[in-house]
Amino acid sequence: MTEVMRINPEKPQARIIEKAGRIIKEGRLVAFPTETVYGLGADALNPEAVMKIFSAKGRPADNPIIVHIAEEGEIYRLAQRVPREAELLMKKFFPGPLTLVLEKGRIVPDEVTANLPTVAIRMPDHKVALLLIREAGTPIAAPSANIAGRPSPTKAEHVFEDLQGKVELIIDGGQTKYGLESTVLDLTANPPQVLRPGAITVEMLSKVLGSVEVHPVVVKEVGDRDLVAKSPGMKYRHYAPKAELMVVVGKKENVRRRVEEMVGRFKAQGLKIGVATTTMGWKYEADHLEELGESKEVIARRLFEVLRRFDRLGIDVIVAEGVDEEGLGLAIMNRMKKASGYKVVKA
Ligand code: TXA
Ligand code: MG
Repeated sequence: MTEVMRINPEKPQARIIEKAGRIIKEGRLVAFPTETVYGLGADALNPEAVMKIFSAKGRPADNPIIVHIAEEGEIYRLAQRVPREAELLMKKFFPGPLTLVLEKGRIVPDEVTANLPTVAIRMPDHKVALLLIREAGTPIAAPSANIAGRPSPTKAEHVFEDLQGKVELIIDGGQTKYGLESTVLDLTANPPQVLRPGAITVEMLSKVLGSVEVHPVVVKEVGDRDLVAKSPGMKYRHYAPKAELMVVVGKKENVRRRVEEMVGRFKAQGLKIGVATTTMGWKYEADHLEELGESKEVIARRLFEVLRRFDRLGIDVIVAEGVDEEGLGLAIMNRMKKASGYKVVKA
């Protein structure tokens, strides 16, 4: 049985936090909101509890999980070494959508890190998440609260859709603020390397660190062999809707013409076609049209929800207009590319 409890994200009700904290302490699972996406949480220091996350999500055992903390000091317990860069970044971006990969401390179970020598740590910028971690009295291991491979949940309904019957409690705190998962930065690499782009952009990190690299897989498909050692999560197809997705990039005018042409072609084949546009006010002759938004912030917040909606409507082919890869655009395009299996059309 899965219970869903509505919470006030600004003034979280103590009895809900207490109930959720108890479930975590007792080694079971709670789904909760963060500022990025919903997380599926378990006591990070309890290997049996962590294993329940893998079975609930159908997550491959070689994909490590982020540990969530509520106090900066916790990082010294979880990591073997905290370099100066980590301290600078924590000062600037914690709490917030940034995950730091550091050398793993001994207290972190190998189940959490999938036997990697490193651990990923972040402090979510969300009252419910922070109160829950404090109430549980332990760091919380939490991947996104979706079935492995599906778009991450930005609303409690999405968690319910995927994990009904597999999680004891879902705390419903409404729609998440950013809509894309945190930036993952590997500080054991020199220079530091972005393994997954997010709302803390490469530009923002560069200002603090001087030099930052972006792992090649962020922008293009790379062979499995190059990935396994680094961040196993990167090799799995992610965020994927059931429909076939194609992303069209280029100059606005060209994109518009290309999408129109594709819509016509797929319709002629008798396919049910969906379009996700970033050109507001432009009407395509699709079976279903979604205006993602104009600003990157809005596109990021809505992307995963829109992909889920196309699935519910039984769309066969989705054509999405891409964005440029500056700032938050790198994270948006990374998710679009992965969701499409890297089917990018240059208009
Ligand atoms: O915003 C977020 O990060 C959300 C919320 C719930 O906090 N969590 C999330 O977790 O997106 P998940 O498991 O869906 O994605 C975690 C990513 C995966 O790609 C995983 O491979 C990577 O972080 N990761 C975790 N531990 C790592 C490690 N030690 N080294 C490298 N990558 C790691
Ligand atoms: Mg995930």
